[in-house]
Amino acid sequence: MTTVQSLPFHDGRSVPQLGYGVWQVEDDVAADVVRQAIEAGYRHIDTAAGYENEGGVGRAVKASGVPREDLFITTKLANGDQGSDSAKQALETSLEKLGMDYVDLYLIHWASPQRGKYLESWKALIELQQEGKARSIGVSNFPIAQLEEIIAETGVVPVMHQIELHPEFQQRELREYHADKGILTEAWSPLGQGGDILRHPVITEIAEARGVDAGQVIIAWHLAIGNVVIPKSETPERIVSNFASAVLELTAEEIARIEGLDREDGRIGADPANPGF
Ligand SMILES: NC(=O)c1ccc[n+]([C@@H]2O[C@H](COP(=O)([O-])OP(=O)(O)OC[C@H]3O[C@@H](n4cnc5c(N)ncnc54)[C@H](OP(=O)(O)O)[C@@H]3O)[C@@H](O)[C@H]2O)c1
Repeated sequence: MTTVQSLPFHDGRSVPQLGYGVWQVEDDVAADVVRQAIEAGYRHIDTAAGYENEGGVGRAVKASGVPREDLFITTKLANGDQGSDSAKQALETSLEKLGMDYVDLYLIHWASPQRGKYLESWKALIELQQEGKARSIGVSNFPIAQLEEIIAETGVVPVMHQIELHPEFQQRELREYHADKGILTEAWSPLGQGGDILRHPVITEIAEARGVDAGQVIIAWHLAIGNVVIPKSETPERIVSNFASAVLELTAEEIARIEGLDREDGRIGADPANPGF
């Protein structure tokens, strides 16, 4: 079976570098596809309260027969639950839906600076980690200013920052900041949400030359540059082929060609500085 390496967190734990994301997957479908993903070899699943499929993820984990301690489960605090008591209550609700007594990683889903609650939410996550309900804690969609603030105010550095990142939006500035602070970078929408990047000639030429598909080339690029990566697919063949990317090693020249695809206007999702939700 394909093996995926784990990357170390600064808190002493570690994360399988290739995981499986379930945004926009219906709860019942999640129960089925997450089971397929675990069968294919994934040991890292990325969900969120906002995806409304924590129940399905939990049922899949139970049905898989894989011991809980061999799996890495992430969920996220929804924006509407930011705050001190509400964040703690939100993780209780997530754990109940998942049928678990801890998550491996709890993330603040968006800084949502306009709400003004990200700092108290981060303090709540610090307590949840101390209580053992979240083994590790991190953030998602934080501008550098808000990252700096939560670190300066608490002295606790997120283990990982989950951000939009794909070949046309490579986030060099944030990746350098993370490297400097010992924060891992996790790429969301790593395949550009299944869009045009999969048909870009640079990607398809590399895929053809290597006898793999475009998705595998992009996932292998993420792994090569040190990202944790969580592609989503509901297609049985792609669940398997995306996982097989872990054994594809790109050459320095192939990596450099993909680095050339970065674009200033490459963002697909909301801007964390002002997401509007
Ligand atoms: N923190 C955040 O704010 C945030 C935001 C967005 C996403 N995420 C996380 O990141 C995960 C991945 O991002 P994403 O779901 O937005 O997009 P993605 O993984 O970049 O792309 C998923 C899309 O690509 C298609 N696809 C998957 N593998 C493919 C392949 N090998 N060849 C061609 N098409 C392929 C899928 O289709 P099929 O399903 O039909 O196969 C789906 O339409 C999410 O599921 C979620 O866990 C987090």
